Amino acid sequence: MTLAALAGRPADRAIGKPVDLDLSGAWLVDPGAGREGPADLVIEAGQIRSVTWLNGHDAAGIDDRGIVVAPGFIDLHAHLREPGGTAAETIASGLAAAAHGGFTTVCAMPNTTPPVDRGAMVSAASVAAERSGSPVRLLQLGALTAGRAGEQLAALGELAAAGVVGFSDDGSPVQDAALFRNALLYAGMLGLLVVDHPEDLRLTAGAEANEGLVATVLGLRGWPAAAETEAVARDLALLADVVRDEPRARLHLTHLSTAGALAQVRAAKAAGLPVTCDLTPHHLALTDEWLAGARRWAWEALDGDGAPRDPWRDHALVAAPYDAALRVNPPLRSAADARACLEALVDGTADAIATDHAPHAQVDKAVEFGVARPGIAGIETALGLLLGAVDAGLVPLRRVIEALTIGPARILGRGGPADERAAITGGAVADLVVFDRSAGWTVGAGTLLTRGFGHPLEGRELAGEVLLTVAAGRLAFEAPAAG
Ligand code: DOR
Repeated sequence: MTLAALAGRPADRAIGKPVDLDLSGAWLVDPGAGREGPADLVIEAGQIRSVTWLNGHDAAGIDDRGIVVAPGFIDLHAHLREPGGTAAETIASGLAAAAHGGFTTVCAMPNTTPPVDRGAMVSAASVAAERSGSPVRLLQLGALTAGRAGEQLAALGELAAAGVVGFSDDGSPVQDAALFRNALLYAGMLGLLVVDHPEDLRLTAGAEANEGLVATVLGLRGWPAAAETEAVARDLALLADVVRDEPRARLHLTHLSTAGALAQVRAAKAAGLPVTCDLTPHHLALTDEWLAGARRWAWEALDGDGAPRDPWRDHALVAAPYDAALRVNPPLRSAADARACLEALVDGTADAIATDHAPHAQVDKAVEFGVARPGIAGIETALGLLLGAVDAGLVPLRRVIEALTIGPARILGRGGPADERAAITGGAVADLVVFDRSAGWTVGAGTLLTRGFGHPLEGRELAGEVLLTVAAGRLAFEAPAAG
């Protein structure tokens, strides 16, 4: 294939500048149109001039294993740490990392210090995004409760007027069922989502690792799956109640990690409840045996009958145990849970992939496992992990792209701020990612743009190097090798 525009970097191509590109003979995945195949794409001054689907002789030799073009990814869940945590990330570094991951829209969670619980804080985040010079679009979630304290609702109307796309107390989920019920009701009246991190905090007090063999052998305090399933059951029961009064109420469950929670969502959707959910790449691809030192993918940790394999008996432990980079909330689960996540992605129970990009500073991560802050800064490695599952034949590429593009766009709302971005058609403003499935890249301090300290995949080669990200017609990321 010829990618003339990528072969030589025009002198005036720079981050934030409108892009001219002639992408001939790429594999185009357009989930909006329900189509993928060989295509030529011409972009002038940031606008898509033409999309020509190729066939016959013109399409010969072009397949989905080479250069792939897809709509820019939309991340429903990221932590950018500004204000209050800028040693871990800033809005500028977070948006740069997002672009490196192929994301052109990022929804920032409100658990900053102070939290985003007033309209002025939403405006401040927009100003910081504008000043960063990045064309990646920042969308903001507002806190569900004042100060994220879980005691009274935040100024939801004021936050809505300031432009938030939903409300969440991610990381400190609301435990009071009556308060959460009101949140669903009032957010619904405002036409906005409630995004819940489902966790019963009474069941996870002091918990360190998924309850099971690994936690027991490592002497880590167990984090039961019931902490998630119980919270999901409560949320769904409240939603069923609230939609009778307010049909616009909508619940989005984020970073589901257990087979039980996904089964509940599958049943709730079948019953017609307005619920959606997302999964993280790390809960799909990694498992709790990584805490013991295994480094095989989740799908390699099950035998041919789908039964979990024993990493000790398999001699699968190849790295030092207790890597604090693996501490995350919810915790990495069993291989069977990861398999359930994959099945939920394939059958559409999971509407979207969201990264839960959660960078932390060195002081919070270069410590013992049990005192490390939870979080994996995964926005740059999401695509690589997902392509691992694609390469293993477990999920079609198009489904992964859907879950990164039109899936989240639909959750944010038809005609909403992300919707128009998930389309590649002539006349549209270019918003896309170009990645090379034939080329891998190595995760490391020198290749990641996040400020977050430590990464569980450090030193690992991942599939699918992002070559170029174009957001709102402007250059957001270009791989150095393409220059
Ligand atoms: O691992 C996590 N880190 N999970 C959360 O819910 C919060 C997040 C954070 O803010 O660090």
